[in-house]
Amino acid sequence: MPHLKISSHSVQRTVHANELHEAHQAALDSPDFESLRPMFDWLSNRMTERRFRSETGTVKKSRKFKLAVSRAMAQAVVNSPSAERAYQRVNGPARVHFTRIILPVAGLPPSLDGLRVAQITDVHHGPWLPAEYIAAIMAQVNATKPDLVLLTGDYVINSPRYIDPVARAFATLRPSIGVFAVLGNHDWWEGAGRMRAALESAGIPMVDNRHVVVSPERSLITSRRADSPLGLAVAGVGDYWEDRVSADDALGGLPDAMPRLLLSHNPDVAEDAAFLSAGHRVDLMISGHTHGGQVRIPRLGTPVIPSLYGGKYASGWVDGPAFPVYINNGIGTSGVPLRYKAPAEVTIFDLTPAGLIL
Ligand SMILES: [Fe+2]
Repeated sequence: MPHLKISSHSVQRTVHANELHEAHQAALDSPDFESLRPMFDWLSNRMTERRFRSETGTVKKSRKFKLAVSRAMAQAVVNSPSAERAYQRVNGPARVHFTRIILPVAGLPPSLDGLRVAQITDVHHGPWLPAEYIAAIMAQVNATKPDLVLLTGDYVINSPRYIDPVARAFATLRPSIGVFAVLGNHDWWEGAGRMRAALESAGIPMVDNRHVVVSPERSLITSRRADSPLGLAVAGVGDYWEDRVSADDALGGLPDAMPRLLLSHNPDVAEDAAFLSAGHRVDLMISGHTHGGQVRIPRLGTPVIPSLYGGKYASGWVDGPAFPVYINNGIGTSGVPLRYKAPAEVTIFDLTPAGLIL
């Protein structure tokens, strides 16, 4: 593989969580093209449903076809010495937007004020996104001095041979408390057991359908029941397409007063009737999966979003029916090795007890 010269160039913007919804709505609204929007949404939904709707039998066929095409493209590209240079020409060097969000959380103990949580998602290490690129981003994340790093799935693409290298890249993360992860659909497609084992041997516990608790003293309580209402729970669910999603396993047994972050690769969990009927408190769900649309056509939006809810969960802060969701654009790509107007992203949440800054 050719040596990559990575000129990292991070962009950071700081937004208060309350401002995010309006900012995203403003970005999506486009009065000039309002008349075209219903047709575009219909087309987008049709394509999304045909390719991704998990209840229908067509999903397996179309996924197999998509994977076959994707693998063939990968094989062709990976044999070219200029593949990574080409990727960088299109997508730029390791340019990642670091979105910093001040997140007020009700019931957060004052001793956890300022707790810094980094979210990394959809790395998709594969033929187009080399290990050096990922290593540069991990170093940038370490430079933000996070307390927790939360990984929300889709770490590889196209082949299981990328599993061990991406886990080695994650092993270089140095948060003060720990790194936790859930799996995404691509991890299942390339080998969930192998990915789980690689992450665990890199010192990264999985939180699919379970939780851990950060105590007010910033240590970890890993028992399934946390008796004291003080602390912050970090919970996760399995992938919505390929695994079990159990609200009770993820959040059951936690004291009602304890704030909690929920990791779910797929944002559609926010609308899932079974999940919602369990009635568990969620302060913020963090997700990936939709890549910010990955290719965003100015004024029209995104042609394909792998969600049952069209563009609702494409990117950023979204108010779901019961709790807010933050959808991180992710780092890598799937389908085509191209991002346009949907920049790669790492999200940094700085937690603060609600009421202190309002
Ligand atoms: Fe993804």
